[in-house]
Amino acid sequence: MRLVILCFWIWAASGAAAVAGSDMEALLEFGRGIRQDPSRRQAAPWNPTSSSDSDGCPVDWHGVQCNGGQILSIAFDGIGLVGNASLSALARMTMLQNLSLSGNKLEGVLPRALGSLASLQHLDLSNNRFIGSIPAELTKLSNLGHLNLSSNGFGGALPVGFRSLRKLKYLDLRGNGFVGKLDDIFAQLQSPVHVDFSCNQFSGSLASISDNSSVATTLQYLNVSHNVLSGPVFASDPTPLFDSLEVFDTSYNALTGNVPSFNFMISLKVLLLQNNKFSGSIPEALFRETSMVLTQLDLSCNQLTVQLGV
Ligand SMILES: *[C@@H]1O[C@H](CO)[C@@H](O)[C@H](O)[C@H]1NC(C)=O
Ligand SMILES: *[C@@H]1O[C@H](CO)[C@@H](O)[C@H](O)[C@H]1NC(C)=O
Ligand SMILES: *[C@@H]1O[C@H](CO)[C@@H](O)[C@H](O)[C@H]1NC(C)=O
Ligand SMILES: *[C@@H]1O[C@H](CO)[C@@H](O)[C@H](O)[C@H]1NC(C)=O
Ligand SMILES: *[C@@H]1O[C@H](CO)[C@@H](O)[C@H](O)[C@H]1NC(C)=O
Repeated sequence: MRLVILCFWIWAASGAAAVAGSDMEALLEFGRGIRQDPSRRQAAPWNPTSSSDSDGCPVDWHGVQCNGGQILSIAFDGIGLVGNASLSALARMTMLQNLSLSGNKLEGVLPRALGSLASLQHLDLSNNRFIGSIPAELTKLSNLGHLNLSSNGFGGALPVGFRSLRKLKYLDLRGNGFVGKLDDIFAQLQSPVHVDFSCNQFSGSLASISDNSSVATTLQYLNVSHNVLSGPVFASDPTPLFDSLEVFDTSYNALTGNVPSFNFMISLKVLLLQNNKFSGSIPEALFRETSMVLTQLDLSCNQLTVQLGV
């Protein structure tokens, strides 16, 4: 009996070691695309000789967190890495929860294999040189809460199926070349808190966010400035209830129609509508202190009429 238990234990241990090895091999494969690592803080991952600590990670792997030899988190932010980022190598890390590579000079695309990172909660590739579009497989990441692709060369339309990203709270796509109708995208978002779509080529209008009560109740920050949006800012009926919205920036678009009173946004602090094609008079309610907690308001460069002394 004792012998049987012992054999089982040995089998289990060698199984774990094989898994750990594959995560390390994946990181080494990723490292082969890195041409410059000026701080040399990441020297260890690219060189497998260092000894392991209690988590099963080599001791001098900065920015890498392991558990039982499997990689849980990679944070190589702003350390001057230059090279080709092979995300398909990293996509084999089944336990990976956090992948953060922001502020480097990494090139690459989002491979379809990323969809197999079932544990991923936080993906930040901001401020790099990534290109291409978002593959539909990304919408399989049902644990994803934070997606930051800002300041890269991404483009194309967002995949249909964003609806399945039920936990997505922070979505930052600022400063890319994304296209598509915002109406369709907002109809798919579940309960976002922070959405930054600024400096892209998004078209359409914002009408569907006012239709969608689940988006309207959770959203705190919405920035759609510097796009090519047109039409009225909201559908007038029914009046949307943006209870949590604090920042609303839709400047530098081609929105038309009247400026709504915004008195239904009870938490609104920053309202930026400049450089659009709004017309008509400025709603008096915008200046009534009791209705809002506004600290910043910009309506400049529109076609608005000011009625002084009324
Ligand atoms: C992921 O890494 C980033 C960058 O180091 C950090 O700010 C964030 O808190 C981490 N998130 C998780 C879920 O570990
Ligand atoms: C990056 O990797 C891709 C695919 O492996 C390859 O086609 C490309 O030439 C590489 N680019 C550079 C600059 O090394
Ligand atoms: C996305 O990344 C940029 C640059 O790294 C940062 O300034 C921004 O705050 C991030 N967005 C979110 C929603 O965390
Ligand atoms: C609003 O979002 C929900 C998901 O929360 C979706 O099922 C519904 O179709 C959306 N409604 C509209 C009018 O787009
Ligand atoms: C909205 O985005 C633009 C461009 O990325 C930025 O300059 C602006 O400060 C943002 N607005 C707010 C209120 O954060």
